[in-house]
Amino acid sequence: MKKNEIVHGVCTDITVDGHGIARSDGKVLFVKGMIPGEEGQIKVISDKKNYAYGIIDSLSVVSPDRREEDCPVAYKCGGCDLRHIDYKRQLSLKRDVLVNTFRDLPVRIEEVHASPRILHYRNKVQVPVKDHRFGFYRRYSNDIVESPSCLLQFEEATDILNEIRELLKEEDTSSLRHIFLRKGEGSGEIMLGWITSKKDVPYLKRVSETLVSHYPSIVSVLQNINTRGDNVILGEEEVLLYGKDRILDIFGGIRAEISLKSFYQVNAGQMVELYQGVKEYIEEGDRVLDLYSGIGTISLFVSDKAKEVIGVEIVRDAVENAKRNASLNHLSNVSFLLGDAGKGMKEYLKEKDCVILDPPRKGVTKELIEDLIAMKVPKIIYVSCNPATLHRDLQLLKEDYDFDLICPYDMFPYTVHCECLVCLRRKSHE
Ligand SMILES: C[S@@+](CC[C@H](N)C(=O)[O-])C[C@H]1O[C@@H](n2cnc3c(N)ncnc32)[C@H](O)[C@@H]1O
Repeated sequence: MKKNEIVHGVCTDITVDGHGIARSDGKVLFVKGMIPGEEGQIKVISDKKNYAYGIIDSLSVVSPDRREEDCPVAYKCGGCDLRHIDYKRQLSLKRDVLVNTFRDLPVRIEEVHASPRILHYRNKVQVPVKDHRFGFYRRYSNDIVESPSCLLQFEEATDILNEIRELLKEEDTSSLRHIFLRKGEGSGEIMLGWITSKKDVPYLKRVSETLVSHYPSIVSVLQNINTRGDNVILGEEEVLLYGKDRILDIFGGIRAEISLKSFYQVNAGQMVELYQGVKEYIEEGDRVLDLYSGIGTISLFVSDKAKEVIGVEIVRDAVENAKRNASLNHLSNVSFLLGDAGKGMKEYLKEKDCVILDPPRKGVTKELIEDLIAMKVPKIIYVSCNPATLHRDLQLLKEDYDFDLICPYDMFPYTVHCECLVCLRRKSHE
């Protein structure tokens, strides 16, 4: 096989990053945009010893699940991976990937729970800005791809971003790094954040006032100053430019305030479905430790079933939100601690019936896993946004815990990502 050669291939599978896996003369090709079941001519773009990368040249067998791409920047911006595939098939392909990931563990993978919304489900947008270009990064690159609209983000975000583009046309945007927008779907409130590399950016206040007058749902405007050179988006320092420094969301009967620096699930509708799944594993009267608790949403959601819930979270603003959220909802059996859930948790694990884990993509630390085992925690409810690290952590827990079902929730339609929920119960050791 050589670069630029056209070969015939049959696609049988899909990779974790959404590439079709095809075979041609016994060699594996990873083909962008090819759907399992499809067959056709593939142009080789890079040939390695044991595999090659290709792009579709022409298809002789087209999947019935192939759909028209409905976005002008599909596959140019890094947002969607599966725009060309019918939603039902996206779900079954996500499940296939999970079956493959967990194939060496005795665990069944449930059908993927569909997202209640598949368009405009994202309540948060972070748009990089470079040389007057606003958009999304091209995958694996720092190039910015501009688009007049986006089918994933909440609808007003498109209008607000287009207006910002117009308002900043004549301004010096060299110190503007990102624009941040977040909407509380249940309240309608929107937060606008300007992430800048220096404090003094003269036009921000004026532009913010214009935007607020056009979009009354913008109730919070903040400037976040990030002088660092790395790729972490938010800096420490924050200046309030308009309104309040938090927005409200309402979901499943719960009111929750969210600060700029706090984590909040991007698909609030599916978040509620996921939390319902978590709650089903909680028994009446459980004493619960909610690790990686964010603004306390899971703690609040399960608090009517649990005897008590303690949340642990490392971001100060999120802990403050969580504490306030407990009082907003008049909950007295929920409390929150600022701390690193990855270490020194032994004391907190004592006398708990259940520990909820909802870590970031890197999963939980080995120390925490060892402590969970040593403290004989009876039940662990693990929520994961990264099947690879969930798999690693389940491998470490499998000697001491039984688990037989992974419940996937599609939080991120049109992307390859999938959220997983699994309940582990401590084996009875003599
Ligand atoms: C995937 S989010 C889950 C948050 C929350 N459970 C929810 O459903 O919204 C992970 C959270 O862990 C927090 N976090 C990251 N590293 C942490 C650590 N070492 N200790 C405690 N919290 C941490 C993040 O700030 C974030 O709020």
